[in-house]
Amino acid sequence: MARLHAPKALHRTRLAQSQVTDAWGQQSMNTTQPSIAVLGCGGWGKNIIRTMAKVHGVAAVVDPSDAGAALAAELAPDAAVHRTPDAVMDDPSIDAVMIATPAETHFELASRAIAAGKHVYVEKPLTTELGHARELVRLADEAGRVLMVGHLLEYHPAILKLRELIDSGELGKVRYIISNRLNLGKIRTEENALWSFAPHDIAVILRLVGSDPIQVVCTGGCYVSPNIADTTVTQLLFDDGVRAHVFVSWLHPFKEQMLVVVGSEKMASFNDITKELVLHDQRVDFDEGRPVPIKGEGTHVEFDTTMPLDAECLHFVDAVRNGVTPRTDGRNGLRVLSILSAAQRSLMLNGVPVTTETGGIAHVEEGTPIRGSFRREAKAPATV
Ligand SMILES: NC(=O)c1ccc[n+]([C@@H]2O[C@H](COP(=O)([O-])OP(=O)(O)OC[C@H]3O[C@@H](n4cnc5c(N)ncnc54)[C@H](O)[C@@H]3O)[C@@H](O)[C@H]2O)c1
Repeated sequence: MARLHAPKALHRTRLAQSQVTDAWGQQSMNTTQPSIAVLGCGGWGKNIIRTMAKVHGVAAVVDPSDAGAALAAELAPDAAVHRTPDAVMDDPSIDAVMIATPAETHFELASRAIAAGKHVYVEKPLTTELGHARELVRLADEAGRVLMVGHLLEYHPAILKLRELIDSGELGKVRYIISNRLNLGKIRTEENALWSFAPHDIAVILRLVGSDPIQVVCTGGCYVSPNIADTTVTQLLFDDGVRAHVFVSWLHPFKEQMLVVVGSEKMASFNDITKELVLHDQRVDFDEGRPVPIKGEGTHVEFDTTMPLDAECLHFVDAVRNGVTPRTDGRNGLRVLSILSAAQRSLMLNGVPVTTETGGIAHVEEGTPIRGSFRREAKAPATV
């Protein structure tokens, strides 16, 4: 039978062991590892708990369901398991919370955690309303707390490699990006396929293009549940003529997760199912004024084999410990959300182009120190 309430001593031991000795032989409080709780041990939360338990440690888990609580106790045997968030919110020894609960609960839980002085990681989508996302960014700024969003693909080594190829000029000017995320997968009844899948694709496209779209067009179809789109196609237009489209569906006969970047000199594709990143030496040249396709070879590009979720969890720990802006911070989540909201408006208007409201969302560079009192008071060395 799984144990649901681990003795606090186990948690304290982990904190004590995680302190390091500095060059002068003293225990350095600045390097004390943050104590992290996870809210939600469902379909995705279980992956976060398993990963965090492996790469860092989980101090506590909250899940109101019997199944979630029992699974949490198995995945993180050192963690205290609670049924309501109060135990974590009221516990001053918890530095940070990771929220992997249904999207409609994100705002309430994240705002509560920030008010309780915690650093916060929220699974995508940051919130279900744009106004709530703005509010979370404001609250985190005011409190001097880390606010990070789980845009997992931004930690994928293949995507980082693709960014390198684009930044080095290998592809020439980026012209067009295609992102397909298709499967006969988990069919949700509260949020549509756009909100469930497309945050990942939009986050990556924004990063690869390096700017925000000026216009969004989205169409889709609802077949399983009334007014819940099972399949959507979203087109993004950027002000330098770059275009992108995101096709997501949970009504598809096979799994496809394919990203294609078409540049003026070369093209690149990343297949997240076969894990192949290919640089295609293909372009269009002109011969006496006539366009001629040049069909060169494709070359496989190697990339690091780090698991994206390992990298994402460690990035959050580092951001909390060092008091710096994470790569996928609240502003990043807000930008993605503003595009999702525009796409949703266009979807409801059956594809009428919608202008995005991304203006005014300032970008903060990854690694920028977070203003305000970052580290909570140093803990006394634990005794067990
Ligand atoms: N990054 C990714 O690739 C990825 C993949 C899937 C889902 N997600 C996201 O993760 C989040 C959760 O999705 P899921 O598929 O795991 O959902 P789920 O319904 O399978 O699990 C949610 C869990 O949260 C628990 N829960 C509900 N309210 C709670 C509360 N107030 N406090 C603590 N626990 C609570 C539920 O009991 C359940 O166990 C969503 O935001 C989803 O979009 C991300």
